Parts: sequence; structure tokens; C-alpha cells
Amino acid sequence: MRHLISPLDFSVAELDALMNLAEDIEQNKKKYAHACDGKKLATLFYEPSTRTRLSFESAMLSLGGDVLGFSSAASSSASKGESVADTLRMISCYADICAIRHPKEGAALVGAQAASIPVINAGDGGHQHPTQTLTDLMTIRSLKGRLSDMTVGLCGDLKFGRTVHSLINALVRYPGIRFVLISPAELRVPDYIREGVLEKNSIPYQEVTNLDEAMPLLDILYMTRVQRERFFSEDEYLRMKDCYILDAAKMALARQDMLVLHPLPRVNEIAVEVDSDPRAAYFRQVQYGVYVRMALILTLLEVDAAALS
Ligand code: NCD
Repeated sequence: MRHLISPLDFSVAELDALMNLAEDIEQNKKKYAHACDGKKLATLFYEPSTRTRLSFESAMLSLGGDVLGFSSAASSSASKGESVADTLRMISCYADICAIRHPKEGAALVGAQAASIPVINAGDGGHQHPTQTLTDLMTIRSLKGRLSDMTVGLCGDLKFGRTVHSLINALVRYPGIRFVLISPAELRVPDYIREGVLEKNSIPYQEVTNLDEAMPLLDILYMTRVQRERFFSEDEYLRMKDCYILDAAKMALARQDMLVLHPLPRVNEIAVEVDSDPRAAYFRQVQYGVYVRMALILTLLEVDAAALS
């Protein structure tokens, strides 16, 4: 039995196979409409979510399966003091696979160790968010035609943004990837990413504070929200919240084939005027997220896609 806790739980070849499957799903939706008949997905969300939870639910429903779960810690037995391990042990009797989001780093791993069904990490605190990374990789691969040889700008809250941490971990495995890390000094990527991932793998990167200067260099610009819920003080958040705002004037500095990605939700960091720019890919990214989660559910449930017609 396999889980997805970190983006590195799948090899590059396995990720390729997963994305090929997601592409086939995109092109042959009917073929997969009953692939998970009779199977249940539990969504255990101890932290707010719109996209990720509904994306998982939409994915399972499109496969013919059912979903159950909760969408806040307050409405679950966590409010009575139940541990994640106990909840996962219990959910294993109710469902065939589950996705868990929790504010604590490592919660999904603890859950996976207790569960007897595949567990998917749907975000653990400021740590990792591997299914967002699958979505990001799928978007880049589909729209750029490759995952290698490019300069990727990551902008905003690189300290608390788990989508950034997961994406860096995943992209360093492809050849010719360079990063431009654009953030205020206070929100730089954590040391464990800079030293433990970038330097360890000899990945070229630069850390800058100025978005305008970075714009012309980039093949991909990955914008992120300042993670209000992970700040220690509201004052500090207020000081940082509008540190970068991508608008039409900044887009004019970028290459014609640059893509803008964002895991969403957006707050102020991308002006609405950018939405109509053909380089804005963040809403297309949402659609890729459903296909890739469908592929992930099929893979972890070991459904043989070749046997479907
Ligand atoms: C992200 C998350 O939850 O980390 N959202 C998402 O899953 N699409 C990004 C964010 O909340 O800023």
C-alpha cells in the first residue's frame, strides 16, 4: 500500500506515468466514469480549504466513487481531543482512501503510519502540499511541453508557503532548472530548503527582493499569497501582505511565453487585470488539478486503467 506524503514519494518516472494517465483522463473522460464505482474517499480537513477539498471530491465523483468527510476541525472529534492517529485508524474502516489537511507539520505522516488505507497529504502546516505540486507540474508540462530547462520565479511568502516548498523539492529532479526566489528578507525560503534541497543538489538560484528586475528572466512566475494564518502577529502580516502585486505594467516586462501560476486563493498579489492576459494560467491550473487527482486516486487504489474501456 502506498501513500503520498511528500512529492518525493513518487520517482520522476512514476510522476510521468501519473501525468500521462491524467492526460488520458482529460481526453477520455467517459472511459473513467465508473473506474471507482463502490469506492469511498474520505476528506479529513482540519484546516480551511475550498479548492483542494472540492477538487478531491470532484475527482472521486468523476470516477464514479463516493465521498465523505469533514471540512473543519471544529466539526470533527478533534474538538473532543481525538488524535490524528486514532481518527485515521477509524476512517480506515469507513473509506478506501483518504486525503488529510492539517495545520501541524507531519500530521499526514503520523496519520499514514496509523492507517490501513492509502493516505494523501493535502497540506500539513507550512511544510508540504504534494497534490498542489502534481497540479503545478501537470500545468507546466501541458502548457510548456516540458519540465526541464527553465527559469522558475517563486514570488511572495516563500517562508510559510508550503506549495513553494513542495514545488522546489519536485522541480530540482529535472535537468536545467534554475530558480529566482523573490521575497522580502523576512519571508525567504527556510534554511532546510535552501541548504537541504537547493545547495545540496547544486541547483542554480538567486534570492532577490525586486520583482520588476526578475520579470524578464522568467519562463514561469509562481505567485503566492502571504500566509496570514501562519504569522505570529497580525501587525507583521499587515506589514507584509501587499509586498508584491503583479499587474499589467509588470507583465509588460515579461517574456511573451512566460506563464503565471498561483495555487490560489489569491488575495491582492495578482491584479484582476492580469486575468485576461493569455499568459495567466492560474485558472487552467485548477482544471489540471482535478485530472491529476483523478490519476492519483486511481494509482493509489491500484485500479488498472488499461482494463477500462
Ligand atoms: C494553498 C494551500 O492551501 O497551501 N492553496 C491550495 O491548496 N490551493 C495555497 C494557499 O492557501 O495560499
